[in-house]
Amino acid sequence: MQVPVMQANGAKIPLVGLGTWDLRGRTCARMVDAALRLGYRHIDTAEMYDNEREVGEGLRASGVARDAVFVTTKIWPSHFARRELEQAANASLARLRLEQVDLLLLHWPNPQIPLSETLDALCKVKRTGLARHIGVSNFNVALLDQAVKLAAEPLVCNQVEMHPLLDQSKVVAASRGHGMAVVAYSPIARGSAANNKVLARIGKAHGKSAAQLSLRFLVQQGIVVIPRTSRVERLSENLAIFDFELSPAEMREIADLAHPGGRIVDYAYSGSPQWD
Ligand SMILES: NC(=O)c1ccc[n+]([C@@H]2O[C@H](COP(=O)([O-])OP(=O)(O)OC[C@H]3O[C@@H](n4cnc5c(N)ncnc54)[C@H](OP(=O)(O)O)[C@@H]3O)[C@@H](O)[C@H]2O)c1
Repeated sequence: MQVPVMQANGAKIPLVGLGTWDLRGRTCARMVDAALRLGYRHIDTAEMYDNEREVGEGLRASGVARDAVFVTTKIWPSHFARRELEQAANASLARLRLEQVDLLLLHWPNPQIPLSETLDALCKVKRTGLARHIGVSNFNVALLDQAVKLAAEPLVCNQVEMHPLLDQSKVVAASRGHGMAVVAYSPIARGSAANNKVLARIGKAHGKSAAQLSLRFLVQQGIVVIPRTSRVERLSENLAIFDFELSPAEMREIADLAHPGGRIVDYAYSGSPQWD
């Protein structure tokens, strides 16, 4: 099965990718390898995940051609100063054992370093060929508007928390207004969407699981999803979301699940050396 792609500011991003936060060591390499063999063509990692080496190993073990896979990594905000950003990008590539990543993101905003300096450095990294595309993550509407104004190269995505329990319509509209893709992280709400009764009931009518409904709800809106699993059998489940369609009434009912306490990742970078 070929995964459909989302086009945004010149990038073609496969609508489903494998999230790898918290996948470590052999499990990580094995899951990346298995995912690519099953048809995944998009892998999401970050310098913070401490698994770029294993992501690269899985990529090579799969035998899938390098240019057929969309690899994203992210720079941690403690490396947002001009020189450090380029060093961090080079270090990620060395760990991945790749010459270039497909997408390089600023992982979280860092209020301590001018955004203009960071974006200059990010654009330079793109121009020197270390990254095919660049983008941001966890940027709110105001920061996104600033980033787009400051960047000399196109930003292709904003990666944000998104699932049926959280309303992200404002940041989605802003990202789209700039021609950017939205990449949904925690797209099954870290597993809790898999236990949701409404998703399970609607899913039953389609012969699909609640987790698949959570993912379908997003991709049907043109949102890229990067679900993570450590279980090989769930890799195919999370990919089997393109052979059914939710009705407008079902989409509305799922959208109504969003509530103010639905956010999972409540974090702001404060300069502490601790990972999120
Ligand atoms: N940019 C950022 O700041 C940021 C922040 C958070 C995450 N991310 C990225 O987004 C990725 C995904 O987000 P996430 O890891 O937070 O959460 P997620 O993908 O929403 O959920 C992962 C959890 O769901 C379970 N799961 C997976 N497939 C399932 C299925 N079909 N049925 C039932 N349970 C299932 C997994 O358990 P099993 O392992 O047991 O299957 C795991 O506990 C991350 O791995 C990372 O790459 C980015």
